[in-house]
Amino acid sequence: MPELLTTYQKRIEAALTQALPAAGERLADAMRYATLGGGKRLRAALTYACADAFAVPLHAVDAAACAVEAIHAYSLIHDDLPAMDDDDLRRGRPSTHRAYDEATAILAGDALNTLAFALLAESPLAPAVKLAQIQTLASAAGWAGMIGGQMRDMAATGQTLTLPQLQTIHRSKTGALIRAALHLGALPAANYGAHAATLNELGEALGIAYQIADDILDATADSATLGKTAGKDAAQGKNTYPALLGLDASRTALAEHSARAQAAA
Ligand code: IPE
Ligand code: IPE
Ligand code: MG
Ligand code: MG
Ligand code: MG
Repeated sequence: MPELLTTYQKRIEAALTQALPAAGERLADAMRYATLGGGKRLRAALTYACADAFAVPLHAVDAAACAVEAIHAYSLIHDDLPAMDDDDLRRGRPSTHRAYDEATAILAGDALNTLAFALLAESPLAPAVKLAQIQTLASAAGWAGMIGGQMRDMAATGQTLTLPQLQTIHRSKTGALIRAALHLGALPAANYGAHAATLNELGEALGIAYQIADDILDATADSATLGKTAGKDAAQGKNTYPALLGLDASRTALAEHSARAQAAA
């Protein structure tokens, strides 16, 4: 897996560098700053890994891998804005609104959001496949998925949620895009339909596990390691697994969801 991940990471860096507008204008520079400045590339790697698993050539899903990372980068730009998590540090550098300004950051996020769908529409896949990818990504990123989850996260700040309510936030704000990343890679395959339910189960488990891990790291790692401000969830009264259950139970929940993901995989 580590070798495969390196292969996917190199591939997505090259594909994103091509797919983004050329540097030189402020908006393009901010889009490149937010998207090319590091990141683990988990979501693109999941798209490529699913393509590999379904014998889809990787070049056929470069657009989809770029699209999912573009949506993710936009979500991080907006997540860091003063109106949301108000975070000055991202991927070890000033967050986009600190490196540029708030208006540029909002617009760079907007532009990455629309770029994602342009890339999917322009990809060389069959029209019916592209349409299914566009629908999958739009619903995962939109009001019923990531954006809806961000809204619930913001609305619940400072309140104490039940575990099912917190799971709903994690499933939508983080899980939806991770689930979509899997489907986007497999959708071009003729046998996709037979495995769509398993991909849902994998995405659901992995998505929750990933946000629990992010919550644990926020509470336990330092800013230099994370590349983002540590301890900000507790400081801001965010609903997280450690806040609701404590660290030990959070680690147990992480192990359970990870095991579910492995079983599905
Ligand atoms: C951070 O995602 C936000 C979450 C949804 C947990 P990542 O931890 O995948 O961020 P990068 O892309 O590696 O910076
Ligand atoms: C972010 O969750 C989820 C999305 C951006 C959709 P967090 O607010 O926990 O992410 P970090 O910790 O700032 O990366
Ligand atoms: Mg947030
Ligand atoms: Mg945040
Ligand atoms: Mg976090």
